[in-house]
Amino acid sequence: MNTQTLFQQHITALEHSWGEALQQTMPDCDAILVHSGSSHNYFADDHAPPFKAWGHFLRWAPLDRPDQFVLFVPGHKPRVLALVPRDFWHDQTLTTESWWADCVDITCMENLSELASLLPQVSSLVFLGENRTLAVELGVPAAAINPASLLSWLDYDRAVKTDYEISRLREANAHALSGHAAAEQTFRAGGDEYDIHHAYLAACRVLDQELPYSNIIALNEKAAILHYQNKRRYADRASQPANKVLLIDAGCRAYGYCSDITRTWAADDAHPVFHDLLNGMQTLQATLVGSVKPGVSFADLHRQAHLAIAQLLVDAGICHGDAETLVSNGTSTVYFPHGLGHLLGLQVHDVGGRLANRSGELAPPPDAWPGLRNTRSLDAGAVVTIEPGLYFIPALLETARKSAMAKSINWTLTEALMPFGGIRIEDNVLATVDGADNLTRNAVTGSR
Ligand code: GLY
Ligand code: MN
Ligand code: MN
Repeated sequence: MNTQTLFQQHITALEHSWGEALQQTMPDCDAILVHSGSSHNYFADDHAPPFKAWGHFLRWAPLDRPDQFVLFVPGHKPRVLALVPRDFWHDQTLTTESWWADCVDITCMENLSELASLLPQVSSLVFLGENRTLAVELGVPAAAINPASLLSWLDYDRAVKTDYEISRLREANAHALSGHAAAEQTFRAGGDEYDIHHAYLAACRVLDQELPYSNIIALNEKAAILHYQNKRRYADRASQPANKVLLIDAGCRAYGYCSDITRTWAADDAHPVFHDLLNGMQTLQATLVGSVKPGVSFADLHRQAHLAIAQLLVDAGICHGDAETLVSNGTSTVYFPHGLGHLLGLQVHDVGGRLANRSGELAPPPDAWPGLRNTRSLDAGAVVTIEPGLYFIPALLETARKSAMAKSINWTLTEALMPFGGIRIEDNVLATVDGADNLTRNAVTGSR
């Protein structure tokens, strides 16, 4: 199916679901104005960080720039109200492509002050977006600015993707894999974190600011830092430590839709037990991906991951005892302290992961794992990441050493493995009607 047909179907689906959401949650209102967001300068400065449009706006129109609006009135073609300032400092050209632009009506404004005249009666308008001041200036009643009932409904529904959205997520995966291949090559050739980062950007032909999140490129012991942000560079190559392990967590965006992929690579001369762990993690991650299907509770999958990681730790001689006990006494959490994954879409950690239903009731995470970002049962069409990890994190090990868990841990082996940091393997997975489609492993590379 061509992109325009896919997008038209996507818009039709949005019109239906947003129409129902509006009628059920704000029955006195008959239109929704969605704002992409405002640009904010740094404090006491005259320039702003790179802008990212809000997900609920991007779902209607791939215009990743500030002060764009979608006006949704049930029964009418969606309208895009686009601010295109007269500006000789920046390029303000509004780039549209017919596959999406033909599905909406576009009106351009030179000034935000024109917005009010383009809107229907504001007393029956809902405003969605970050800029409350703007909504108040427009005259939108307080109760109709980001009403929680409507937002919960829309957030909840966003977990299930349309075919158009799935095609963009596939594209974002294929795109990122070209960068991952270049990153592995640069790691094996002895590049530092800076080199690997730039090899990734060059292979994907993207700028830093176009990434869904800042690349995590961690060599050796830094792989133990979950969201490691530096890119170490060595002017003096002689002082650069040998590359033993690379953990790279990096994605791309396709018209706003994100991929979020992690690979861990080890040099041949890394510790042999680290190689065993890496093989074991690859196998258990594939098993977890294979467990994705509609109706499965993500919290149960997370527990399954803990049991498998605990068993791996026992098999590798890093922990003593049985897997059940290592999970229940918290030892597995020392090595695997984050959640198994999250919803993925227009945001890397997409919205609605802890909603039990459209009404906004919460599905809280299990007491043992308060950081789990997705506590829902999977619906067909939901896209999640599956990203088990196993790390040697100094701060967590230090605490464990002073606790009752200490006797379950082989400290000599744990210390020997600390210089290798850790492992994370992350794929993006679609729950299909009867199973799983691994969007990362099944991505058609070379299609760009
Ligand atoms: N890249 C962030 C995460 O995996 O959640
Ligand atoms: Mn990631
Ligand atoms: Mn992730």
